[in-house]
Amino acid sequence: MSTEQTETVRPTATMTGRAATRAFREGGAHEGTGRASAARVSALARDVLARIHEVIREHDVTYPEYQAVKQWLIEVGEAGEWPLFLDVFAESVVEQVHNARREGTKGSILGPYYLPGQRALPARCTLPMRADEPGLPLIVEGQVRGLDGEPIAGAVLDLWQADAHGYYSGFVPEIPDGNLRGVITTGADGRFEIRTIQPAPYEIPKDGPTGKLLSAAEWHAWRPAHLHLIVRGRGYRNIITQLYFEGGSWLDDDVASATKPELVLAPKPDAWGVQRVTYDFVLDPA
Ligand code: DHB
Ligand code: FE
Repeated sequence: MSTEQTETVRPTATMTGRAATRAFREGGAHEGTGRASAARVSALARDVLARIHEVIREHDVTYPEYQAVKQWLIEVGEAGEWPLFLDVFAESVVEQVHNARREGTKGSILGPYYLPGQRALPARCTLPMRADEPGLPLIVEGQVRGLDGEPIAGAVLDLWQADAHGYYSGFVPEIPDGNLRGVITTGADGRFEIRTIQPAPYEIPKDGPTGKLLSAAEWHAWRPAHLHLIVRGRGYRNIITQLYFEGGSWLDDDVASATKPELVLAPKPDAWGVQRVTYDFVLDPA
């Protein structure tokens, strides 16, 4: 993997942010954007504002600081970066609340880079990739089951991931649409075997307002390497999750706080020297 190539495909924050905002508006919201009652809106808005007031008092926030925050909030919106910022700094807690009572496979955040309607693939498949796709080959196999161990026939795995430079197709002009994305349908036994490449860790673009905050606070901008999945089965609750890699950088210091020990893969070379791992998904009843 040449660093030269990394430099030539580095997208700008505005490019990524705008594409993420468009994807969200066009259906990436996924769980829908529901309407809340006036009482609920009032309670949430009041508490959010009360906590902001508390921070202002506690830290003696000055006028220049207040105006700097206002300027920054305007810029996040103009750059289209709200999906990036919110999914990194808020979604993990929404996910924890949403999945608190789930017994099957643990969930993780959706993030800003899901795109619906990707290529349909059979249970044994290779994800769409470029002829010269960089990265270490990886095979993920397993079974989708219910809580009692019953195989879920025709379960569907919607999978998307970054490439070996940490970039997602659909958000970077240099990568062909649909690259390293696919919708896999399992057979009667719920089993799958997916060939792909190992993704690289992901870094939030640093040249936009989110990046400006990170550098002003001297925080890092990294997420550990991960695969994104939505697993569905008729009569079962969908799970939105991510799989990580043992020993990978940033696994214990994810900027998005979205890792869980149950979601860490430990691939081992198979007889042909290809990294291979088994991971079974367990879905809760609907
Ligand atoms: C972000 C990017 C990701 O790839 C992800 O999984 C979660 C969040 C982000 O930039 O907000
Ligand atoms: Fe991601």
